[in-house]
Amino acid sequence: MHFMSSWRRFKIPIAKPEVTSDDVASVVEALEKGNLSSGEYVERFEKAFASFVGARHAVAVNSGTAALQVALKTMGVGQGDEVITTSFSFAATSNAIVLAGARPVYVDIEEDTYNVDPRLTEKAITRKTKAIMPIHYGGQCCEVDEIKELAEKHDLRFIEDAAANAGSLYKGKRAGSLGDAAGFSFFPDKNMTTGEGGMLTTNDAEVAERARYLRKNGATTRYYHVDIGWNFKMPDFCAALGLSQLKRLDGTISRKDKVALMYSETLASIPKVKPPTVLNHNKHTWMLFAIRVTKSRRDKLMKNLAAKGIETRINWPPIHLQPAYVRLFGFERGILPRTEKAGDDIVSLPIYPSMSREEVGLVTTAISEEMRDS
Ligand SMILES: Cc1ncc(COP(=O)(O)O)c(C=O)c1O
Repeated sequence: MHFMSSWRRFKIPIAKPEVTSDDVASVVEALEKGNLSSGEYVERFEKAFASFVGARHAVAVNSGTAALQVALKTMGVGQGDEVITTSFSFAATSNAIVLAGARPVYVDIEEDTYNVDPRLTEKAITRKTKAIMPIHYGGQCCEVDEIKELAEKHDLRFIEDAAANAGSLYKGKRAGSLGDAAGFSFFPDKNMTTGEGGMLTTNDAEVAERARYLRKNGATTRYYHVDIGWNFKMPDFCAALGLSQLKRLDGTISRKDKVALMYSETLASIPKVKPPTVLNHNKHTWMLFAIRVTKSRRDKLMKNLAAKGIETRINWPPIHLQPAYVRLFGFERGILPRTEKAGDDIVSLPIYPSMSREEVGLVTTAISEEMRDS
């Protein structure tokens, strides 16, 4: 179903993007200047985003998926290579790997954070492994130090799928500054949006330079193509929206922090519900607020919440069990027990900056009733 219609259809939607009058003014300004494709706003957005993240370079593209595809190609990932990743993600993470011609190799997740388990990662490394590309699940960074150490030891590249992580902190450092490159998404359910859009960040000047021409069909100057690329350019008026949204990102995150706290306080007293765990060294940005129940209860809970106008989602049904992946790679249920179990009993609750105490109350009361009755 179309995302935008979902947040209009539900009384309490899963996410609610905010477009303020300043955002509109910024977009109108770009449009009035006739800035339709990439131009000065993209350049300004890139500089502002790089500085926000604490990375040397930022390259704007037109989706988070595109950012991952470009990142993989800048690092030479291609036919016959393997990339270690997680199956507990949106399909784009693996799709980018498969579209590069490589094979996704899945490592199971940790029980508490749903991020890749670094203890299982080394066993998955083979002669063909070229990169490790974990996600930072729902707004919380994965175990970066352990993964970085493995990448260095085995001469692998470390790409952060930071789609949901503008503003996430790991030991005081921002997601997007932690690996060889990172990909962000600015889809409307994220903490900041450009409509559709994405950003690659990196500290590596060569990666940034390649990314800049790969997003323009591989052209370094007009009609001079040094590589095979895509048209992944971000329109200037989208960058104008991003620039304006970025200015209040910290505020957006702290408003969501308050909602997460309200949820956690109430959910703690509801039996058979596991609220999210945030590790001490992480700053969560709450793109997702995912709880665990049991499968039999989960499906009924989602149905009954929907009947009350409350939207929920499963983030995510494991990628390795999607029909395309079963067909291409022959993956079977049983290979990733923790991922599969989480896919069975996890459910994301609505969370957005303007969510009121009353709205949180409606959701938690509905969950509490459901748990009591089941
Ligand atoms: C973990 C993850 N990776 C990649 C993407 C793809 O981003 P986009 O939808 O901007 O292409 C998403 C989108 O939600 C995501 O959640």
